[in-house]
Amino acid sequence: MAIVNTSLKGKVAIVTGGARGLAEYEALALAEAGAALSLIDIDLPGAQKMAQKLAAQTGVKAIALKCDITVPAEVQAAVDATVKQLGSVDILVNNAGWAKRVRLVDTTLEDWNHMIDVNLKGAFLCTQAVARQMIKQGHGGKIVNIDSIAGIFGEPDRGAYCASKGGLHQITKVSAVEFGEYGIHVNGVGVGLFAAGMSAQTATVQPEFHKHMIGRTVFKRPGKPEEMGGITLFLASPASD
Ligand SMILES: NC(=O)c1ccc[n+]([C@@H]2O[C@H](COP(=O)([O-])OP(=O)(O)OC[C@H]3O[C@@H](n4cnc5c(N)ncnc54)[C@H](O)[C@@H]3O)[C@@H](O)[C@H]2O)c1
Repeated sequence: MAIVNTSLKGKVAIVTGGARGLAEYEALALAEAGAALSLIDIDLPGAQKMAQKLAAQTGVKAIALKCDITVPAEVQAAVDATVKQLGSVDILVNNAGWAKRVRLVDTTLEDWNHMIDVNLKGAFLCTQAVARQMIKQGHGGKIVNIDSIAGIFGEPDRGAYCASKGGLHQITKVSAVEFGEYGIHVNGVGVGLFAAGMSAQTATVQPEFHKHMIGRTVFKRPGKPEEMGGITLFLASPASD
């Protein structure tokens, strides 16, 4: 047997915000390794289309569920429906996110609340509901938080987003130390700038900022969406034990 085990055969993964963007490649990597998928999103038609596409590509079972991750009852219902339809929850990828470019002085309370709600409260609610299920199952699990370098650096026009991702950083660390005793591993990915998903337009909308960010990267280019696959699989599989 190989010493590095990335097999997810028999495992079930919930990917939040699974309808589009980077989630496609995170979910694809998990499915290629054998995990059944539960894609949860406010955009049900998008999640259904994605589930069909990934199931056809990999042969795994994939379901789509409508869920606003900021609403506790909807999160619980999505976890329960996943267990009912797929048998368990072994992996959670907290991927759903929302960002708006706006100066701090112009940020409305509505924008502030929405960014904190989706990026921080939503990840907390999903973590809590899934961790309770994993503890009940009794065989551990993997939680991967799709965080951002915005949780460390101060990015212009991203005040609420940076604050929400900084909070996610801390929730990642606290849940990692709290859940260890149950065999649940929690990690975060400090995602940089991708020419995809919510940052697809950065090069055209903020060309100077985009140039500056790319100039600071080692490889002088934005991330490619498929590059989210390897890190997600590593952190979701026994390879990262
Ligand atoms: N794209 C990048 O360059 C980049 C950089 C750093 C971090 N990230 C992070 O990666 C993750 C994915 O980003 P993306 O670029 O693919 O974004 P995206 O906007 O393409 O996709 C986000 C998904 O989340 C869903 N969503 C939003 N609010 C929701 C809610 N309340 N409940 C359920 N689902 C909801 C959307 O419907 C959408 O399907 C986010 O957490 C983001 O902060 C992205």
